[in-house]
Amino acid sequence: MKSLSIQEAINKGKGEVSIKGWVYRERGSSQLKFIVLRDSTNIVQCVIKKEEVGDKKFAIADKIQIEASMEITGAIKEDKRAPTGYEILVKDFTLVGPSDSFPINKDQSPEFLADNKHLSIRSRRNTAILKVRSTVFGAIHEYFRKNNFYEYQSPSFTATAAEGGSTLFKVDYFGKPMYLTQTWQLYAEAGIFALEKIYCIAPSFRAERSKTSRHLTEYWHAEMEVAWAHFDDILDHGEGLIKHIVKSVLDKNQEELKILERDIKKLDPIVKKPFVRITYDEALKLLETKFKMKIPWGKDLRTIEEDKLSSLHDVPVIVSRYPKEIKAFYMKEDPKNPKVVLGADFIAPEGYGEVIGGSERETDPDKINKRLTDNGEKPEVYGWYLDLRKYGSVPHGGFGMGVERIISWVCGLDNIRDAIPFARTMTRVTP
Ligand code: 4AD
Ligand code: MG
Repeated sequence: MKSLSIQEAINKGKGEVSIKGWVYRERGSSQLKFIVLRDSTNIVQCVIKKEEVGDKKFAIADKIQIEASMEITGAIKEDKRAPTGYEILVKDFTLVGPSDSFPINKDQSPEFLADNKHLSIRSRRNTAILKVRSTVFGAIHEYFRKNNFYEYQSPSFTATAAEGGSTLFKVDYFGKPMYLTQTWQLYAEAGIFALEKIYCIAPSFRAERSKTSRHLTEYWHAEMEVAWAHFDDILDHGEGLIKHIVKSVLDKNQEELKILERDIKKLDPIVKKPFVRITYDEALKLLETKFKMKIPWGKDLRTIEEDKLSSLHDVPVIVSRYPKEIKAFYMKEDPKNPKVVLGADFIAPEGYGEVIGGSERETDPDKINKRLTDNGEKPEVYGWYLDLRKYGSVPHGGFGMGVERIISWVCGLDNIRDAIPFARTMTRVTP
């Protein structure tokens, strides 16, 4: 008999079915054994009766423990008392992989669960997060492909920094120093001359010495770069992408959001309302008038200031035109005010922090040279990048989105490490 997924068996609702899965819960007596079986689709209660399967089989059933894998054949019928409203009366079963004293149970600390992620990954909660994660990745591809972007890749080993030297991971590359990439950006700026509109989803690496609930050392970075684009085009794409992601999750993951106890009323405005766009100068004014926080002009916004700004709105706040000194060397100087750059950060609501950073790119090679020198970098190392300004340079720009930051926010997680199957942070390298 062809086996069905548990959800398919429930949908069938009556007659004989065959299913495969893992033991989610079990209890029993000398004549009866109740097993709740789970697979990736749902859970269902199964009853094994001694009189139905015989003494020998029942003795095997009696010893089955949590997380053992099984194949079960039996008759499914509606039963209001069962966890998902259906029950299977077992005719026959096979114990595929036994399990002995599964170490994960209900009341364990987040630290223990993280130390045992190779096993806790199968929990209902983690499974729900992974399903949302899969929707988010799918939605990113959909958004860019629907808008005629090409998927394009950059190397992970690089010789140069794009986002400042302090967060570079150095690796020994045949005796010479190389770095793990922080962003695809410099290589993307070369790629737009061939493909014009490009995107990627790939790991980025940051040796950030921060033990916060927002930082991973290895995270998935969704980036885009567009030729002939100006600053507002880039911001519009960032807003469009986030709206598409949230809409997709609301369409496809109601069940998962329920398991995660996410208040979905907080996600509705993201799809329906325009995002708030303010300048850095306006942000400073807001911080002073609404929160009595006086930030000297030229200082970067810290997490606490970002949180205050985002608390004023139920949609992301896009802060633009930061002082040149606190932003990356490649951001274009604002033609209307050379003190600031055409760069922006998207701050998510509910205290989830910066989810997108992007900019129009500087096209003037002299300005790039000067900014690199001011930052203590050697412009010669960026020779190939500066070449791009010599041969048919065009206005262009792009952004990068931290995929785990988005997942954390959409799922309402306390810590970003739960948004990725196996987190890498300053203090965690296993499992
Ligand atoms: O703001 P960032 O540093 O921008 C760039 O890397 C640009 N080169 C992107 C581009 O224009 N192509 O990083 C982009 C985003 C941040 O907004 C944040 O969401 C995420 O990457 N991010 C992190 N996510 C998790 N852990 C970290 N340590 C992160 N650092 C940045
Ligand atoms: Mg940034």
